[in-house]
Amino acid sequence: MSKNRGKLILIEGLDRTGKSTQCELLRQQFGESTTLLKFPDRSTAIGQQINQYLTDPSYKLPDQAVHLLFSANRWERNDYIRNKLLMGDNVIMDRYVYSGVAYSAAKGIEGMDLEWCYSCDRGLVRPDLTLFLVNHESNDTREGFGEERYENNSFQEKVREQFYKLFEKLDSQNDLVIVDVTGCTIDQVSKKIWTIVQDTKQIPSTTFKLFE
Ligand code: TMP
Ligand code: MG
Repeated sequence: MSKNRGKLILIEGLDRTGKSTQCELLRQQFGESTTLLKFPDRSTAIGQQINQYLTDPSYKLPDQAVHLLFSANRWERNDYIRNKLLMGDNVIMDRYVYSGVAYSAAKGIEGMDLEWCYSCDRGLVRPDLTLFLVNHESNDTREGFGEERYENNSFQEKVREQFYKLFEKLDSQNDLVIVDVTGCTIDQVSKKIWTIVQDTKQIPSTTFKLFE
């Protein structure tokens, strides 16, 4: 009897919305045979370059090149993700294509529009479910906010707009749930997420949806 492939669940959101905490809690709830991947994956050579760009304001790199590095960082993990799913493992991701496009497009650079930013991610495996965490309260009071590039409120607002444009472009209504975490405790958010994840149907085959 062939085994169903695992579920691919993505948690997305602006900086400091609690994604990493929720990814870890979800991993614990799934239990065994679950893989958690965070993007950018700073452990690879490409990831280290991205890390330097994010943490060192004096590190200069054209925005197009930075964008391609983030995309390459997803591509270098694509086979790994597919293989894990085929083995029956569930895979949880902390950020992915949506962040990749939204943060770059939010820079408003000529020629680097949403379509350009999205094009190099076409063909990557598309999650079965994407949870977009939204906190309507300012997140600038959270510990550590402002330490990395992109962590300022005016830029985050532009990123938010680009996320919504991309959801529309990608017809995300079938595989996206917006989770309002405003005023919620970590535990409350975790329960909301687990309820939504349990409703996601198992995919009974070896096929994948792709970003097209
Ligand atoms: P992190 O805070 O989740 O570690 O992500 C680091 C920053 O990188 C965050 O501000 C979002 C941004 N980002 C991109 O600009 N492009 C991408 O493709 C990804 C995955 C993250
Ligand atoms: Mg961050």
